[in-house]
Amino acid sequence: MARNMIFWLLLIIVTETRVARRRELPRLLTAPQAVFSSCNNLKVTWKEFDASKDDGDGPISHYLVFIKANITDFVSAWTQIYTVFSQNRVGLSYTVNITTGLIPNVAYNVRVDSVPQDTNNEPLNKYMDGRELRDPVLNQCNC
Ligand SMILES: *[C@@H]1O[C@H](CO)[C@@H](O)[C@H](O)[C@H]1NC(C)=O
Ligand SMILES: *[C@@H]1O[C@H](CO)[C@@H](O)[C@H](O)[C@H]1NC(C)=O
Repeated sequence: MARNMIFWLLLIIVTETRVARRRELPRLLTAPQAVFSSCNNLKVTWKEFDASKDDGDGPISHYLVFIKANITDFVSAWTQIYTVFSQNRVGLSYTVNITTGLIPNVAYNVRVDSVPQDTNNEPLNKYMDGRELRDPVLNQCNC
């Protein structure tokens, strides 16, 4: 009888712990950084997700890089421009060069989303809450 009760108690404790330890979506704490090395060549870097410093749980499968023109006079949406797999790291960070789809003399915002390895088959838009640049950067072209 007592043994039976201990079994059920343990089962309840294990179940409760599982619910409490539900994974949280990973999110970089530090904003990515971007510089235009030249006209139509936007270089973006960010630090590898670190579960001990950043928000949420890893490990990360890949990062999604989005850009959005900083224009208010027409609707400008986030456009996914790169998928960067976790293993393509250089040191502790990632770098991409965006060289297509940019309009001369328009400022851009950039966002990096971290997608965990274990997405539990949830829709990807759940991860579309990444970290943005502190300020948009201008694609300065003399043309
Ligand atoms: C980005 O471009 C620079 C030169 O502007 C080059 O040295 C670097 O290897 C490129 N990086 C990637 C990830 O393509
Ligand atoms: C981005 O747009 C905002 C709102 O129009 C403007 O105040 C800001 O100066 C723009 N940033 C750049 C870098 O152009």
